[in-house]
Formats: sequence, C-alpha cells, structure tokens
Amino acid sequence: MVSTLPKPSAANTKAAVEESILAPRFYTTDFDKTAGFDLSSQTHEFEAVLREMKTDYNRDHFVRTEVFKQSWDQIEGDDRKAFLDYLERSCVSEFSGFLLFKELSRKLKERNPILSELFHLMARDEARHAGFLNKAMQDFGISLDLGKITKNRTYTFFPIEWVVYTVYLSEKIGYWRYILIYRHLQQHPENSCYPLFDYFESWCQDENRHGDIFKVILRSQAPLWNNWQSKLWSRFFLLTVFATHSLTVHERSQFYTLLGLDPTAFDADVIRETNATSLRAFPSVLDVDHPEFFPRLHRCSDRNLCMKAIDASSQPGWLKTLRKLPLMAGTFFDLAAIFFTPGIDAEALRTQVC
Ligand SMILES: [Fe+2]
Ligand SMILES: [Fe+2]
Repeated sequence: MVSTLPKPSAANTKAAVEESILAPRFYTTDFDKTAGFDLSSQTHEFEAVLREMKTDYNRDHFVRTEVFKQSWDQIEGDDRKAFLDYLERSCVSEFSGFLLFKELSRKLKERNPILSELFHLMARDEARHAGFLNKAMQDFGISLDLGKITKNRTYTFFPIEWVVYTVYLSEKIGYWRYILIYRHLQQHPENSCYPLFDYFESWCQDENRHGDIFKVILRSQAPLWNNWQSKLWSRFFLLTVFATHSLTVHERSQFYTLLGLDPTAFDADVIRETNATSLRAFPSVLDVDHPEFFPRLHRCSDRNLCMKAIDASSQPGWLKTLRKLPLMAGTFFDLAAIFFTPGIDAEALRTQVC
C-alpha cells in the first residue's frame, strides 16, 4: 500500500530527548592535548586506516529506496512507541558522534592533520547514519530538530584518554548490536517490520572501521595500555558500557521482542562479543565467563526496573528515595564486585602469541 505521508509539523518536531542516566550524551574534550599526540609508533597502521576511510565503501549505501514509501501504521501501540524510542536514541547517539568528530577535526586541522582527517571522515559517516535515522523517524511523522539539539544540549567534558576508551567501545558495541540484529533478521525475515534493518550489514562496517581507528589511536599512546592504571581504566569503561547496555536493553525489552529477539540473550551476546573484540585493543578486559558476571548484571537491570516503577508511583518523594536506597546500594555492590573480579590480562596474551 503506497500513501502520501504527512510531513512532520512543528508540533511533532522534537528538539530534546527525555533526560535519564541512560540517555545518549554529548561530549567535549581537551583538544590541545589531543593535538599533541605523537602518532609515530603506529605510522603504518594510521596510513592503512586512512586509506580505508578514503575508499568510502558506503558512499552510495544510504539511499532510501521505494520500499520506504508506504504507510507503517501496522506498527502500532506499544510496539510503535518502542520502535520510535529506538530510532530516536540511535539518531541522537549517531549525531553525538558526528558533533564530537567534527569538532575534533576542526580543532586539530593545523596541528595534527592525520587525526584531523580521520575525524573528518568519521564525522562524514556519522552524519549519514544520523540523517538516515532521522528520515526513518519522518516515516512515522516525527523528526528530530538536530540544529536545535546542538544548541540546547549541555556538553560533558571527558579527558581525551576517556574519550579514546569509551568511543572505541561504543563503536565496537555498535558494530555488534547492528550485525547481530541483521543476522537474526536474515534468519527470521518475518520479524523484519521495517526496511531500516536491511542496511545494517554495511552500516555496521562503518562502526567497525571507526573502532579500528580508535584502536590505533589507543595503541599509539603507550600510557593508555602499558601500566596498571590503564588496566583499571579499561575494565572500568567496559563495565560502565556493559552495565548501560544491559539496563537499556532490559528497560526497552519491547523493541527486541518486536524483532523476535530474546532481550537477555541478545544483551549477553553483544557483551561477550564486544569484550572479546576489546582484547585486541585494551590492556585488560572483564572475565565475562565468571559464573557471577551475568547474574550480577541482571540483578542491576532488575533493580533498575524496580526503581523506575517506584519513580512512577504516586508516593511522596522522601518515601521513593527511602525505597530506592537499598536498590542503589545493591547495584553499587554488584558493579564493584564485577570490577574487582580479576580480569583477563590482554598484554600477557599478546606476548604469548608473539
Ligand atoms: Fe554511526
Ligand atoms: Fe561510528
């Protein structure tokens, strides 16, 4: 059925997403310190990733075909809400990457041309991703005002070392999320409710390449991997990214159920694969095979859902806080227990392989 879709009006053009600790954020960093990065220990690797990015494999990939031009009213009720929420969060997080990369490219132009060009090319990709998702939202009569979001958002400052760890992880976890959804829908085409997912196979290769660039940056800066502090930071960021992922997937389980995925199994697959991939870049990763690893994460997800239910209740504020305190303490305890469980020493494994 082909129908003319209403253009999003001012009323359904959104300029903000709901604030929560799990909402995608916007970042800024120390540009001067980044400009001073010495890349000489990884010269060949930087040349290789730059060549790959210039090839621009996905130049013609993000073109909307005729198949989008129809009504999507069959996705309705809670499914529609969950699907739109997914599109919105994905769009904001792609756009957040675009803004950070664009700013890094601009600020490093004169002082570190190789990094500047890499950030410019990654910004190119993220702009395509965000634009494609925003067009998808328009199919449902909603649009994000990305210009307004840029102006109104508050930016969180992250030291460049934290940016390198977290962006590496968000690119690699993004890769695994996209490819696992794509593979699942290839096997179960009856669950593919919208053609966006057909684009994920090539799309996730962009994220994989971005992750590889951050791996080269990380390996070019010895203090990011050759000391005990870097091992603790690596495990800390793996834990925060995995905990955020687990909580988000279980908070938005409706979306995964809509695609015929088991949210808990999907969450575990993404975490296992991302942790294994990180072994190639990080000095230390988490022991996800520890028998208590997933039970602890799942307890945190369950408590998060309980806290949301308490927040939504009509009880007085002081009672809500009182009821949430043991849940927060339990989450803190479980996350600390994961963090202090001995990790996998990636540097020792690298030495053995060599
Ligand atoms: Fe992206
Ligand atoms: Fe990316």
